[in-house]
Amino acid sequence: MRSVPWLCLLGLASACRDSGELPEGFVFGTSTAGFQVEMGCPKLGTPPCADTRSDWYAFITSTVTLARSGNFLAGDPPESGPGFYELYEEDLDRVKAMGLTGFRMSIEWSRVFPESTVGTSDHEALRAIASPEGLDYYRRLFAALEARGITPLVTLNHYTLPVWMHDAVGCNRSLDRCSPRGWLEPNIVEEIAKYAGFVAREFGASVDTWATLNEPLAVLIPGYLLPSRDRTNPPAQTLRTREAKMVLSNLIEAHARMVDEVRAADTVDADGDGKAAFVGIVYPIAPFRPLDPSNPIDRIAAKNLFYVYNELFLNAVLLGVLDEALDGQGARREHLADRADFLGLNYYFSVTVKGEESSVLPDFSPLLTFDPFMIDTSGERTDPRGLFDALAFASQNYPGLPIIITENGTFDGPEDRQERFLAEHMSWLLAAQRTLDLDLRGFYWWSLMDNYEWNHGMGLRFGLFRVDPDDRTKTRTARPVQASYQRVVEERGLPSDLADRFPVPAALDLTP
Ligand code: BGC
Repeated sequence: MRSVPWLCLLGLASACRDSGELPEGFVFGTSTAGFQVEMGCPKLGTPPCADTRSDWYAFITSTVTLARSGNFLAGDPPESGPGFYELYEEDLDRVKAMGLTGFRMSIEWSRVFPESTVGTSDHEALRAIASPEGLDYYRRLFAALEARGITPLVTLNHYTLPVWMHDAVGCNRSLDRCSPRGWLEPNIVEEIAKYAGFVAREFGASVDTWATLNEPLAVLIPGYLLPSRDRTNPPAQTLRTREAKMVLSNLIEAHARMVDEVRAADTVDADGDGKAAFVGIVYPIAPFRPLDPSNPIDRIAAKNLFYVYNELFLNAVLLGVLDEALDGQGARREHLADRADFLGLNYYFSVTVKGEESSVLPDFSPLLTFDPFMIDTSGERTDPRGLFDALAFASQNYPGLPIIITENGTFDGPEDRQERFLAEHMSWLLAAQRTLDLDLRGFYWWSLMDNYEWNHGMGLRFGLFRVDPDDRTKTRTARPVQASYQRVVEERGLPSDLADRFPVPAALDLTP
């Protein structure tokens, strides 16, 4: 722990405030994902703008899935998206004008390989079946980033799968009779690793920083256990615990094999820092807080849930410690160990837990004997201190591992919601940077512009820039948070007027 001003420890909020402390090399950026931002082009037609070969495209456009209330789909058509596929040059001009030097994006597996790669492995043979339009799009995008001096951070899989890997509509109807079954397919690890290696070789001269998977448990939980209004993910099945365990295992294996492929294939040092490939995973760390800290059942439930949601997966991918029985006892596996150069940390919320004596998920993990009753996962209530707690957990449990905050942000709402969120989270980020033994490399705001928020469609708007889904031109308009974030970037810290407008709570307790 580095020193904390004593007045701050005594509870004087202003003494805890820091500004201008983020080092020169610290990257400020914005974060996006292909499926969420690309569709809805003003001029270009459905293909090539919309990626009709992705399982999510099928999921949100099928009359079958739209009709099922248990899928919680808002029903917005893909055309309501912001059309980044066509408008990327002007969007990247905005990134540049804000002084941001980082841009997080995803490559869509289905854009690169709209058709199956099964049975093909040689790079040239793979290139022959890759989509020329897909490859050309990413080449143009990387050239546009390079021309502006913006460094890409590329997510290889941000939830979507190609339709030849996942029949999202069929599996939503019946998981027992569908084919192909996505993350349940025996060959998914091999195929996704092959795709990762292919794009790392194709684009390695433009990209050094790669994230294998985005929020893997957001595939698992709303996909196979508990789809809800907050989030669904195809196949949107409830309490399929046997399948959920198989998906969990495949996600862990997929990360490790993707890392191997990317490290072998990306041999070009794009940014001249002496490293050709810097490969990690993006994970949302959420603190779990007992509703009543004096109630042992609430405390045990919060502790166990914290383990199941955060540690279990991270221990496997960051330490190579696999807990196959999901009982809290892991063992080191060499084929998983040393497979992460950094942790991409997403932070949105904490979870308040009320323990119950019965369990809805008895056969998923023995640790869930006291069933969680979770409150406030919807993001309505925010918990800025949770960012400090998440960073404290990560830096203590995975010491020495570089951390990039790959997502932090919130949707537009009343009372300066986004600006307050930014200022309060920046305060806690700076407190963490100052007091923890932390190798923090960057911060990416989610998101550059309003985009397709999965099952919510255009219903939740996270953009620095507003996009009206009904406006055919998809004109971008800056929100107040855009100017505030730009000033954070300019000052490499929290400007004092923002800190005064949105003060951190007086009783700031920095004990992790
Ligand atoms: C995801 C994004 C999503 C954001 C806001 C994260 O879970 O990575 O795709 O849009 O949260 O909900």
